[in-house]
Amino acid sequence: MKTKAVPPAVRRKLEAAARKAAAKAYAPYSRFRVGAAVLAGSGRIYFGCNVENASYGLCMCAERSAILSAVASGESRIGAVAVYTPTREPTSPCGACRQVINEFGPDALVISVCDSDKRLESPLCDLLPDSFGPMNLKRAKR
Ligand code: THU
Repeated sequence: MKTKAVPPAVRRKLEAAARKAAAKAYAPYSRFRVGAAVLAGSGRIYFGCNVENASYGLCMCAERSAILSAVASGESRIGAVAVYTPTREPTSPCGACRQVINEFGPDALVISVCDSDKRLESPLCDLLPDSFGPMNLKRAKR
């Protein structure tokens, strides 16, 4: 599947939204703030942050929080995801977030930015090769 080009102006907006969202992170346990923004099918940008819980296993990542917000607003496609962490190294989405991105954007561009000039950019299919997704269920013989 081919990743659609994200125009530089849209990309800048997406990265700025992810940076801004990190300020909203609720991360009293890990102190690791994450902001994410997704470019949805309509062209709108949705953002999210990580939201932790005293019951640690219930922590929600920034990427999934942004995607859930987009879907709750009626979106069903994701073209790009930006992740920001206030670190020297960029942070790539965790495995669970990769799987959730795959559901709505198997061809999405995934961008990670941080407080240095280092950045990561990969199509989701490179981050989650041979993925399991909606197509597998369509193909299944029942
Ligand atoms: N976290 C994210 O928000 N996104 C990721 O892709 C990796 C991890 C959050 C979860 C938790 O609140 C904190 O970072 C430390 O794992």
